[in-house]
Order: sequence, then structure tokens, then C-alpha cells
Amino acid sequence: TIKGCIFDLDGVVVDTAKYHYLAWKRLANELGFEFTEKDNERLKGVSRMKSLEILLEIGNMNFDEEIKEKLAEKKNNWYVEYISKMDESEILPGVKEFITNLKKNGIKIALGSVSKNAGIILENTNLKKYFDAIIDGNKVTKAKPDPEVFLKAAEELGLEPYECIVFEDAVAGIEAAKNANMRVIGVGSDEILKDSDKVISGFEGIDLSILEF
Ligand code: BG6
Ligand code: MG
Repeated sequence: TIKGCIFDLDGVVVDTAKYHYLAWKRLANELGFEFTEKDNERLKGVSRMKSLEILLEIGNMNFDEEIKEKLAEKKNNWYVEYISKMDESEILPGVKEFITNLKKNGIKIALGSVSKNAGIILENTNLKKYFDAIIDGNKVTKAKPDPEVFLKAAEELGLEPYECIVFEDAVAGIEAAKNANMRVIGVGSDEILKDSDKVISGFEGIDLSILEF
């Protein structure tokens, strides 16, 4: 039986995936190429530097490490500017109700995100109190699809991987959950998240029966 739920942050709990996209698009445009929403799917769940590398590959560009650091910093400054104005209204619909319901039923809750900005976001949206364990980009060295983030989350909850379910909006995240030997529920489009065990479009109206397989 399932004893823990591990939530990705960006695009699952809060609507920040759009801000990552806006910031990367702004960087691409400044470098002189287009960056579409379809391209952006490849960046979801992926670390900041790896995302930059994918972006530059799309634009057919390459720079040395020093410049890459600067470009990543530039993107992050824009991103931080966008999320600094965030509040509780950007928590995705149904998320708080679903998590509250899980907790009432004795299920433990963890955050499993590779973002180094997770702390600010949880702070601004008042969500910290819901999590029994928080694993973010400051605690892991390997980004999704590596399973490190989810394995650490399970460990901090004191659970085995098979006792956990992951909620993810990213292709790389679904792969990471599979690599961790966990069940994974995709949050988003069926077509993009086809490798997950189940897909939901969001948490509105979702009850505990979703955890049954
Ligand atoms: C993930 C996002 O949650 O965090 C990615 O899906 C992002 O888009 C990654 O690149 C790293 O985030 P940050 O905030 O550390 O740049
Ligand atoms: Mg995500």
C-alpha cells in the first residue's frame, strides 16, 4: 500500500513552469532564435545548466563555460523576478485540498524538485507546512531523469520506493520516478506524459482512489 506521495513543484504544485518558459524564451530571443512551447517540454524537470545546454543546441549555438554560467545566471535573474511576485493564488487548483486529504489519511508528503528556487516559492505561497520532507536542487547533485531526488525524498520520509507515488508534469521526471522504481502519475497532457502509470489533467476533484492500482 501507498504510504507517501512525492510532488514535483514546478508545474505540479504551482504554476511556475510558465515562468521558466518565459525566461528561457527571453534568453533565446536575445540570442537571436525562436524557442517554442514544444521545445520547452525538453527542459521541464531538467537542471538549470542542462536546460541551457538543450536551449543552445536548439539555437545551434555554443559558448565556453564562463559565458554559459553568465547566461544561466541571466535567465535565473529574470525567473527570480517573476516568482518574487508570486502568492497563494498561483497554487494550482485542487492541490491544497488533495494534500490535506492525503495527510488526514496518514499519507506522508514530500517535495521532489531539482529547483534551487524551491525555497522561495514555498515561502511565497505558504506551502512549507504541508511537507514532511523537502528535497530540492540544493540537496541533490543529479537532475531528473536521475532518480536521486525521489530516492532521497523516500528516504527522508522513512519509506521504501514501492511505498511511494510520484506526481510529475515533466517527461524527465516520469523517467526519474521509473528509475527510482516508483509509481508515477502524470499531471498534464496524456499525449506528452504517456509513459506514466496514469495521467490526470490537474488535482481538481481528485480523491484518494487515484492511489489505487
Ligand atoms: C525544475 C523545472 O523543477 O527545476 C526546470 O522543471 C528547472 O524547468 C529546474 O530548470 C531547475 O530550476 P532552478 O530554479 O534551480 O533554475
Ligand atoms: Mg515540473
